[in-house]
Amino acid sequence: MTRLLDGKVTVVTGAGHGIGRGHALELAKHGATVIVNDLGSSASGDGAGRDAEVVVDIIRSRGGRASANFADVGDEEAARALVGQAYEEYGQLDILVNNAGIVRDKAIWNMSTLDFDLVMRVHARGTWLLSQEASARWRAAAKAGDGRTYGRIINTTSGAGLSGNFGQTNYAAAKAAIVGMTLSMSLELAGIGVTANCIGPGGITRISATSMAEAEVVEPDERGEDDFDPFDPSLASPVVAWLASPEAGHVSGQVIKAIGENIQLMSGWAPVRTASNGEKRWDATKLGSVFAVDVFGTRAPGLRMGG
Ligand SMILES: NC(=O)c1ccc[n+]([C@@H]2O[C@H](COP(=O)([O-])OP(=O)(O)OC[C@H]3O[C@@H](n4cnc5c(N)ncnc54)[C@H](O)[C@@H]3O)[C@@H](O)[C@H]2O)c1
Repeated sequence: MTRLLDGKVTVVTGAGHGIGRGHALELAKHGATVIVNDLGSSASGDGAGRDAEVVVDIIRSRGGRASANFADVGDEEAARALVGQAYEEYGQLDILVNNAGIVRDKAIWNMSTLDFDLVMRVHARGTWLLSQEASARWRAAAKAGDGRTYGRIINTTSGAGLSGNFGQTNYAAAKAAIVGMTLSMSLELAGIGVTANCIGPGGITRISATSMAEAEVVEPDERGEDDFDPFDPSLASPVVAWLASPEAGHVSGQVIKAIGENIQLMSGWAPVRTASNGEKRWDATKLGSVFAVDVFGTRAPGLRMGG
């Protein structure tokens, strides 16, 4: 088998279960040393445990190199120390996969401020903290050398962040924030050879099972290799391994959905219609005629105007 990541060191957050576990195993299969981070919490962020050790044991039993880390990615000191662990134990960090996540779904009228803050904390703040620490170290290394370094940041968004979802104003806000910060980081880090991309994965995991009746959660390594299952949470992992590799140096600022058997390169917000009145400022009383045309499609039929 051709290995894409020999000699690389990676941190994968939330890699004790589900999608992150699939990434950690795939990156290790390609020769990367993996720091397997996981707080070991429930799908809603309660509690803590040593779930990361299970994945470390699997990687080691397959001949790979891995270490466990039990940090809460939303805790600044612990998040920075997680990046530091890569340098202390292995002398470098090449790849950061921000994947840790929780859900606390409720319609907005029932959602508490705590539900909002905790979800933002793990996804948005956690992704930012780890990316900030890694970026600062990579930039310092680039400045000390020839101006370039190897670095890959792979973040995790979701359909909720790209299109919204009922009951997920907290999660959608966090996942959209991750897209925005990925686009900004891709611009900021391009000069030093570091890429930043987002994947949109899928699969039946502890967090998606919370909204699916009778869904059975099966971890990636507990599945038979030959049975294709469109809900296997590790189906996005080959995309992560490739984005992490030297082959993908030209890919940055992208959102790639990898669900089931499909890989989709997403296109972001772009104008679908532009109106101009030939004057500098619009008059509100004239806007009704502009929006009388059905520019809203079927997505929010209640918003259709005119007609
Ligand atoms: N499952 C899906 O269909 C789906 C779809 C789109 C995006 N995602 C995203 O994929 C990622 C992984 O989710 P999953 O579906 O595998 O769920 P999961 O619950 O199986 O895995 C999430 C892991 O993150 C860990 N975690 C939670 N809070 C943490 C923290 N503060 N610090 C460190 N680790 C923490 C949990 O312990 C857990 O092991 C999430 O970012 C999620 O939003 C999932």
